[in-house]
Amino acid sequence: DRYQLWGGCFEEEPSDVLRRLNDSLPIDTRLFKEDIQGSRCWAKELFTSKHLSYEDYVKISEGLDKVEKDIEEELKQGGSLKDSEEDIHSVVECRLFKYAGDTALRLHTARSRNDQSATDTKLWMISSLPRLYSALCDLISVLVSRAENEIDVIVSGYTHLQRAQPVRWSHFLLSHGWALRDDATRLEEQSNRLSCCPLGSGALAGCALPIDRNRLANSLGFKDITQNSMFAVSSRDHIVEFLNWSSLCGIHLSRLAEDLIIYSSREFGIVRFSDQFSTGSSLMPQKRNPDGLELVRGAGGLLLGDAFAFSCTLKGLPSTYNKDLQSDKEILFRSYDRLLDCLKVTTGTMLTMKVDPEKALKSLEPEMLATDLAYVLVRQGVPFRRAHHIVGAVLRRASTLGVSLRDLPYQEYTDICPQFGTEEELRGTFSWVKSVEQYTSLGGTSRVAVDDQIKKLRTWLTKD
Ligand code: ARG
Repeated sequence: DRYQLWGGCFEEEPSDVLRRLNDSLPIDTRLFKEDIQGSRCWAKELFTSKHLSYEDYVKISEGLDKVEKDIEEELKQGGSLKDSEEDIHSVVECRLFKYAGDTALRLHTARSRNDQSATDTKLWMISSLPRLYSALCDLISVLVSRAENEIDVIVSGYTHLQRAQPVRWSHFLLSHGWALRDDATRLEEQSNRLSCCPLGSGALAGCALPIDRNRLANSLGFKDITQNSMFAVSSRDHIVEFLNWSSLCGIHLSRLAEDLIIYSSREFGIVRFSDQFSTGSSLMPQKRNPDGLELVRGAGGLLLGDAFAFSCTLKGLPSTYNKDLQSDKEILFRSYDRLLDCLKVTTGTMLTMKVDPEKALKSLEPEMLATDLAYVLVRQGVPFRRAHHIVGAVLRRASTLGVSLRDLPYQEYTDICPQFGTEEELRGTFSWVKSVEQYTSLGGTSRVAVDDQIKKLRTWLTKD
C-alpha cells in the first residue's frame, strides 16, 4: 500500500517544475522536531478526548519516536532528507505509516497542514528566539565591561561626523548598549503574542471533533490559544513582527559597525581589530580589513529587505491559508541565522579589539571646548545666546591670527569680553577631563553619570 497525502481525485501527478516550486522540504526539514512534537500532543489530545483508542495512541507515539530518531540520524549523516514528499508534515506522516501502518492514517484526524505549519513555526520561534536574546545580552555585556575598563579614555564625540565635544569612550560604547537593551526588551514583548497556539484550527473552520484546545496548547508549552480559526491559519503577523524587529536590531548593529569601521581607519586609528576578526587582501600585503563589520553593516540592509519582502507577500492576500504563506519559513530562518551570526561577529570583534587611548586623545582639539567657554560666560551671568556669539567671535579671532583657541592670548579674550574670568580660570577650561566631568546629570558623559549607566545595565543583565 503506497502512502499518499492527497490526490484521490487526481488522475495525473503534478509536473516536475511545479513540484520544484511547491516543495518546501529542503527548508521546513528544520522544523522536524516541532512537527513531531506537535503530532505527539495532537495524538494525545485525540486520545484524551476519545477520538483515538489507547492502543492507537501508543502505536502512534512509539512510531513518532522512531521517526524522530531516524530523521536525526539521517540529518547527521547527509544534512538533508531524501524523501519524495513535499514538506516535513507529509514526511513525518509518511514515515509513521512505515512504523504504525494504517494506524498512522488516524493521526491527521481533524487536523490540517495549515494549522500544523503555523504551529510548528511558532514552536520553533518560541524555542529559538531566546538564543538571539542571549546573543544580544552577550554583546551588551561586552560593551558594559569595556565601558567599565576604559572609562578614562576620552575621545571626540561627533555630530555630522564633525568633531563636536569630548566624551568618555565608555559613554560612546554604552550609547550602543542602550539601543541593544531596547532591542532585547522589544524581543521579549513579542512573546505573549507569539505564544498563542493555532493547532485545532483545522484548514480554516476549526476542529469538528470536540477537543480541548487549551489543554492541547498547554501540552505544547503555549501560554494561550488563537481565538479564531480563520485568523489562526491566515496570520503571519508574528513573523512580520519578528522580521521588523530583526531589521531594527540590524540597523543598530550596522550603525555600531560603521562607527567602528571609521574608528579603525588609519585616519582615526582609535581602534584596532584582532587578527581573528580582520581579513587581508590578496594583493596588498599591508591590508587589514574590517570585513566582519562590513558584513554586519551590509546585513542591516538584507534584514530590512527581507522584512519588506515578506510584508509585500502578505499584502492583499485573501483570507486564511494561501500557498504564498509558505515563504514565511525561508525568510524567517534566513533572517534569524543572519542576525545571530552578526551578533556573534560583533561580539567577537568588540571583545578582541584594542583601543588606543593616545589616538583617542589625538581626535580631540581645543576648538571642541568652544561650548565650554560659552558655559564659562554663562556662569558669569551672560545669557547663553550672547555667550555663543562671543565665543564665535573668539574663534574668528583665533583663526585670523592662525592660532588655536588654547594658544590665543588671554588679552584677546578679554578684549572681546571681560567676563572670561582670570587667566588661570580661562586656562583651566582647556582640560578634557574637566570638560567631560561637567556632564553630571543623568545620562551624561561624566564619570558618575557613566558609572550609573554601567550599574543600571549590569542590573538589567543579571535580572533573571
Ligand atoms: N508546506 C506548507 C507551508 O509550509 C503547508 C502546507 C499547506 N498546504 C496546503 N495545501 N494547504 O505553508
